[in-house]
Amino acid sequence: MAAKILTVAQQKGGAGKTTITAHLAVAFTAAKKSVAVVDIDPQQSLAMWYRLRAERLGDAGAGLLVSAVKGWRSRAEVEKLARDHDIVLIDSPPHAETEAKIAVRSANLVIVPVQPSPMDVWATKPTLELAQQEKVPAILVLNRVPPRANLIDEMLAEIQTYGAKIAKARIGNRVAFASALAEGRAVGEFQPRGQAASEIRALAKEVLRAAS
Ligand SMILES: Nc1ncnc2c1ncn2[C@@H]1O[C@H](COP(=O)(O)OP(=O)(O)OP(=O)(O)O)[C@@H](O)[C@H]1O
Ligand SMILES: [Mg+2]
Repeated sequence: MAAKILTVAQQKGGAGKTTITAHLAVAFTAAKKSVAVVDIDPQQSLAMWYRLRAERLGDAGAGLLVSAVKGWRSRAEVEKLARDHDIVLIDSPPHAETEAKIAVRSANLVIVPVQPSPMDVWATKPTLELAQQEKVPAILVLNRVPPRANLIDEMLAEIQTYGAKIAKARIGNRVAFASALAEGRAVGEFQPRGQAASEIRALAKEVLRAAS
């Protein structure tokens, strides 16, 4: 099986990598895809979320596989998981060039969360350059977008100078994301009719299209 390998990367800490990885994983599972996630961040936040999820829902109820590995081992792990899953998602650590490089090199698509502030946008450059060097397409995802984001147009113009694709689906600044993760869940399971859940569904569709 030729799995799609999607790496969520952003050198800047706290951009939303783990939040987006966990939510995309659950959204793909809900769309009947078999999903494996590789957590190469030594903070292991995604693995912790999964442990909570498996405790609450059981391994079968958790609906996906999460494997926590050290960066240098990730390539072999990804190749193994890619053999029997539709999608392999990689959550990568901040400030870790070597690990990020390994994770980006393995991917069909790099998903780059970015918050709409000038510092965050500037900090995106190394990640986009890395994707370019490795010849892997990248898609920027605006995360924690406030309801009235006057800055957004300016930010989009700035990002466009980096030559990256920007996802149409934007993720709002919503407490529901953290509340759902704190229960080992995702927003689609927590508040299925909420705005947060529909943003994630839209992003999941768009990302799959971009990776195919
Ligand atoms: N869309 C959002 N709305 C509200 N809060 C969010 C959103 N996305 C992320 N957060 C919050 O921002 C913080 C950082 O998110 P997260 O851990 O996903 O980022 P990260 O990029 O994985 O961080 P790190 O670089 O440390 O791995 C968390 O407290 C999370 O709950
Ligand atoms: Mg993280």
